[in-house]
Amino acid sequence: MAARRFHLGWFTPFGTVGWDDPLCRTEEPWDGQFYVDMAKSLERACFDLIMLEDSLSISEVHGGSMEAYLRHGMMAPKNDPAPLAALIGAATKHLGIVSTLSTLSYHPFALARLASTLDHISHGRFGWNIVTSPAEASARNFGFDHLPPRQERYDIADEYVDLVKQLFESWAPDAVVRDHATHTYADHTRVKKVNFHGKYFRCEGPLNTVRCPQGRPAFLQAGGSPRGRRFAATHADCIVAFADGPAGMKAYRDDVRAKAEAAGRDPDTIKVLFLIAPIIGPTMAEALARDEREFTSDQFTEAALALFGSLTDIDLSGYDLDSELPYMTTNGEQGALDKFGQWGSGKTLRQLARESGTSSSVRLVGTPESVADEMGAIMEEVGGDGFLIITPLMRINRRYLGEITEGLVPALQRRGLVRTEYASSTLRETLLEF
Ligand SMILES: Cc1cc2nc3c(=O)[nH]c(=O)nc-3n(C[C@H](O)[C@H](O)[C@H](O)COP(=O)(O)O)c2cc1C
Repeated sequence: MAARRFHLGWFTPFGTVGWDDPLCRTEEPWDGQFYVDMAKSLERACFDLIMLEDSLSISEVHGGSMEAYLRHGMMAPKNDPAPLAALIGAATKHLGIVSTLSTLSYHPFALARLASTLDHISHGRFGWNIVTSPAEASARNFGFDHLPPRQERYDIADEYVDLVKQLFESWAPDAVVRDHATHTYADHTRVKKVNFHGKYFRCEGPLNTVRCPQGRPAFLQAGGSPRGRRFAATHADCIVAFADGPAGMKAYRDDVRAKAEAAGRDPDTIKVLFLIAPIIGPTMAEALARDEREFTSDQFTEAALALFGSLTDIDLSGYDLDSELPYMTTNGEQGALDKFGQWGSGKTLRQLARESGTSSSVRLVGTPESVADEMGAIMEEVGGDGFLIITPLMRINRRYLGEITEGLVPALQRRGLVRTEYASSTLRETLLEF
């Protein structure tokens, strides 16, 4: 039987790079060139896409202070990913480029214009990671006293996406005529106002950018709560998720596919990618030793708890590391809490920090060959559609990138599990190829 092919994405913030790793340069400049190199490596390895993370504040959740975040250089500082998406678009030919752009930080008109421009610059390879920015501190940076409750954030986002889609449609595919005989660049009868009057937004339109190569950029989303999943299933071309083991991955995928069907969509047109951070070594013993060495230190545990705090607005700094965690709820990222909490499992906070801090939906530790086998088996069990690879704790560095692109990916390619060449020109087509 032919192997089930799956998609590969790479997830990264435009943040600090490898500064605390003895095998990496400690002073990487902030000019984005490291990430352009990264994108070129990913393109050589035939990844579907690079996805640029973003958040809009320096968290003070862990211990009520920015200290842990700035000391670890984690989740902060970071640059705005949108200009980086343009740089990567200009430096690559096939790789999809997804930027996180928050419904909190742009008016829909500004976002539609920016996303359309990025789709032009990348010749149809741009994707928008739709987020509602689930952190109180981000809401305060934009002049709000509080983050709206999740339900309302997604209600706002539904209307937001509706307006953005209308703006993308405001230029008909044949609006640009470039007719020398009549000296006409664009036919004004094929460019329409949208006259949008919603509950949250108003916009006259039309967009003042030409219709973009994909008509609209690919939409990505990562809903974790039931409401967030419904939003993702309604709008996204590709859904990314942090799930708990192969069973959790399968349950998540089945759920968003069912929700997509309920929303009148064909679930096969939506690809679900699961966050993983494989730990690769030349031998199994070395991979296991590295896993043990890197993810059990007090420093790692603190950074993992601080990361969790920034995603969920829950401060775990006062809890006993060797006890179980009491039940909790969040208005922040539900998916991160679900993955972390594992209520009733009997695991201590230290164990939970280790498991969630490695940022992997499933523990993958081994040689390129053994991890490639495992990834193939997991996809068989889950049913599809691929993985989104991240550096553990979002600590980006060249070494890890090389292990994945030069070690793991060729092993996957030898098994026929991932692509060895690009066959389409736009990101949406690339995602729909298989
Ligand atoms: C792989 C992945 C990537 C995400 N990227 C971002 C991001 O860059 N910025 C952000 O604010 N939220 C990001 N999120 C959070 C989601 O948008 C969402 O809030 C989260 O999965 C929880 O779902 P919920 O909103 O339904 O609670 C990401 C989540 C996942 C799983």
